[in-house]
Parts: sequence; C-alpha cells; structure tokens
Amino acid sequence: MDIEDIVQLEQQYVLQTYKRAPFVLERGEGVYLYDAAGRRYLDCVSGIAVNALGYGDPEVLAALTAQAGRLAHCSNLYHSAPQALLARDLVQRSFADRAFFSNSGTEACEAALKFARKWQRVNHPGEDRAGIVAFTGSFHGRTMGALAATHREKYRQPFEPLVPGVSFAPFNDVAAARAAIGPHTGAVIVEPLQGEGGVNPARPEFLCELRRACDEQGALLIFDEVQCGLGRTGTLWAHEAARVAPDLMTLAKPLGGGLPIGAVLLTQRVADAIVPGDHGSTFAANPIICAVARVVLQRVSAPAFLAGVRERGRELEAGLNGLKARHPIIRDVRGCGLIWGLELAVDAAPLIGRGYEHGLVMANAGDRVLRLLPPLVVSKEHIDEAVAIIDQVLATAE
Ligand SMILES: Cc1ncc(COP(=O)(O)O)c(C=O)c1O
Repeated sequence: MDIEDIVQLEQQYVLQTYKRAPFVLERGEGVYLYDAAGRRYLDCVSGIAVNALGYGDPEVLAALTAQAGRLAHCSNLYHSAPQALLARDLVQRSFADRAFFSNSGTEACEAALKFARKWQRVNHPGEDRAGIVAFTGSFHGRTMGALAATHREKYRQPFEPLVPGVSFAPFNDVAAARAAIGPHTGAVIVEPLQGEGGVNPARPEFLCELRRACDEQGALLIFDEVQCGLGRTGTLWAHEAARVAPDLMTLAKPLGGGLPIGAVLLTQRVADAIVPGDHGSTFAANPIICAVARVVLQRVSAPAFLAGVRERGRELEAGLNGLKARHPIIRDVRGCGLIWGLELAVDAAPLIGRGYEHGLVMANAGDRVLRLLPPLVVSKEHIDEAVAIIDQVLATAE
C-alpha cells in the first residue's frame, strides 16, 4: 500500500487526537526505526520511554512467542504463573510488598488514587481525607482521576468537572508543599522526574520533605514513575537518588517491552486496606506481557546494565552541554541517565521536523523543550550520532 494511502486512511478514519509525523513507520531494529520509504531514523524517543531494550530484542521475542503459544489471556479469575512471578520480581527489587497490574500508566495512577482513598476510609473512618496534592508541571494521564491531578489546563479544562479535591502546589518548592499538605490530604502524587512537564528532576530534599509531611499528616505518598522509572534515570527507580520510599508507586511505559502494561507497587500497610472486588481489570496482567516484562525487568535491573545507562547518560550530558555552549537558543539542559530536555528559546516542533529530515526522531515536552529518550541500549556511537544531528538541526534555527 502507498504511503500516501496509509496517511489518507488514517486521516479519514482515525479520530484525530494526534498530530503525527509525516512518515509511516514500518519496522525497528536495535535503536533504529525504518519508514515505509526505506529511510532510517536513530530513535531518541523510544515510543515515549517505552522501548527500553530497543527493537527486535531476541530475548523479548522468545518470551513473547513462547507464552503466546501457551496461554495468551485467561482473566484475573484464575491463577497464572507470569503474573505471580512478575509481581515477585518487582517486589524483590523495590520498596514494595505487593503489585497490582493495569494496562497503562493512567490506569496505574487511577488505581493508586483509588487505593489511597480506600486506605484513608479504612484507617480514618468518618474523616474528610479525600484531598489529593499534585504539582505544577505534573502529568499523570488522561482518565478522569489521573487527569484531575495533571496540571496542564489545556488537558483538563475541556473535560471538567473532573474528580474533585485535587490541589496543585509548586513543584520543587518545599515550603509551599508543606503548606499544601494538611489534615484533609489523603494522598500526594509526584513524579520524581517530570517527563511531559519539561524534563524536571525533583530535588532530593523536596521528595524527602514530602515524605516527612505525609507521615506527619497521615497522608500517603505516591511516586509516579511511569516515565522515569525502570532504569531511565540510571538507577532502577528514579526515587533512589533521593533515598526516600513512597507508599505506592506507579509504573508502565517500559515495563512491557513495547506491550501495554501498568503496575502499582505498594506496601503491605496500604495493601491491608484493599479487599477482593475493590478494583480490577479484564485485560490486566496479561500472561504474554507479564512474561515479556520479566525479561525487561531482569535485564534492566542488572547492575552492569544500569552502569551502562549512567555512562551513556554522562556522554549525552557532555554532548548536550557542548551544544549549549555553541547554540545560544539552548536556554537549559536538564535530565539524568537517558532522559534529557533541551529548553529552547524557540518552539521545539520545527526542530523535531528538521530532525526527521536528518534521520533522527526526537519528542517535545511542552512547547519549548526538546526531549531525548533513547532506548537504554544505545552505544556511545549512537549518542555521538544524535548529538551531531542535533548540532546541525540547531544550526538551521539560528
Ligand atoms: C508520568 C506519567 N504518568 C502517567 C502517564 C500516563 O501513561 P499512559 O499514557 O500509559 O496512560 C504518563 C504518560 O506520558 C506519564 O508520563
């Protein structure tokens, strides 16, 4: 089928909720994507922080095909090994005692907010503790609860009224967060590194202070690591840098190696409030995806793999800071591991377009931040290639 025909079909029949890039992707190999015209692109998006192991990883493929041949779906009415084993693997590598599975990041956030509400009902009966504190720049998803805790007005306003009780405090502002968390706060939800909001790392003391304020006020602390978790920042969990643990943590994007899965990890103290029937999902904990997720988790959590992410991250940071020294339109370089944002004095969209022409895919985070999220398996040569292309692209904007 012709490329123009595919684009035309998409525009005629698919609900237009995305502005798509002007090409049709056909396949991926390693850290490269190939379009239907045979053009190759170095991937610095990873399907928005999803394809941590790149494309066509043989171990992922083997787990996928083996489980697909055994049992593709069975519902949560029954036991199945991949779900139980994945839950164990996640718990053994985290602060948590239990895992709940969903199909996406927004559903994981939705579930975490529900679990927090239920915990407050059980532990503080009769009290008004329905408040949720979220932060400026936050993004937690598109469903009504997660959306209510998502800061950007443009995403929320057309769909109001959303879930009530959410207030926003300034991100990374310790005093303001302390003032916002009070006796009516049931939960505080925060990304240890904001992705969509512009690649903004939380300061360690900010996360520690949230922990302290939640403990003092009897609120639960939720870390949303849907985008920044699972090795992206160079540690398995982004919050490790702050040496502080949440009560609940949401995961999704990279967990399924390109297949849809989300998870909430939680402590036993929170889990004690949840009983059968409180929450559920037909598709969640799909056996094929759980089998693949076990491979992803095992690979990404290996100390040598994480050391590689940190090493590549340092190379990328050095390259981007070199660009900042040469290109005054770069206002700031932020990030860690393999998630980086270039805050620009101009809109990022035209530069992303020019990146395509040079064989590089990049994303934005807000209007003026160019976001780089390469697969975690990139090499130094790939980093050098990306930086060289961004250099050329920036030159065209000046
Ligand atoms: C931090 C964070 N939370 C939640 C979500 C929602 O995830 P999903 O798109 O899988 O629903 C995203 C998506 O970008 C995210 O970055």
